[in-house]
Amino acid sequence: MKSFDTTKGSVLIRGLRTRDSEDLADLMSLPGVIYGLSSMPYTNEYVVKALMADASSKHWLIAEHNTKAIGYLYLQWGIGRWRRVANIAMAVHDLYTGNGIGKTLVDRALHVGFLYLDFERIELVVYQDNGPGIAIYEKCGLTIEGKREQQVIREGVYYDSFLMGITRTQYNERHGISKT
Ligand SMILES: CC(C)(COP(=O)(O)OP(=O)(O)OC[C@H]1O[C@@H](n2cnc3c(N)ncnc32)[C@H](O)[C@@H]1OP(=O)(O)O)[C@@H](O)C(=O)NCCC(=O)NCCS
Repeated sequence: MKSFDTTKGSVLIRGLRTRDSEDLADLMSLPGVIYGLSSMPYTNEYVVKALMADASSKHWLIAEHNTKAIGYLYLQWGIGRWRRVANIAMAVHDLYTGNGIGKTLVDRALHVGFLYLDFERIELVVYQDNGPGIAIYEKCGLTIEGKREQQVIREGVYYDSFLMGITRTQYNERHGISKT
């Protein structure tokens, strides 16, 4: 567990706890989060609990402030030939955005993903108009690799998304890690 300072006070990055389900259901229901993510208005806590229960193919990082979960990121990976490819899902509470929490979560997830979970590639899908999302992923070394047209519905309108990704080789080069 590691904390860092923001204009909102100290934020702790830690693992998932069972008590987080209520905070995460509330967080996923916020307007700003729904705008950038594929979560539903009025997210059901049971949906979150089901996501949380699937521990064999997910690794979560939680951003905590004053005992509340105010941000999350999970890496989710596949099986068989997809076992070393992971994707990222994440969000930060509307009242806490713009404080470096999102970038910290991505940086730490890439570290765990490449150096502990041994992934070959980490990727995600981000809506084309998600400026802050694209900005933090690019700062962390992911690049835009392609476009998915009309991929998501928001307020009755379909929007395009970008596929972004980073390979282990790109990550190692960026961080001066030599292959052993
Ligand atoms: C995307 C999200 C995770 C970013 O989290 P955050 O904690 O606000 O991110 P950070 O504070 O670390 O960084 C945000 C960066 O975006 C930049 N930014 C803000 N608005 C921007 C815009 N419209 N265009 C480009 N960059 C923008 C900020 O300047 C900041 O960069 P800086 O640190 O160099 O100033 C958060 O906004 C969020 O949860 N959104 C809703 C859910 C979502 O979109 N999830 C990701 C789905 S792929």
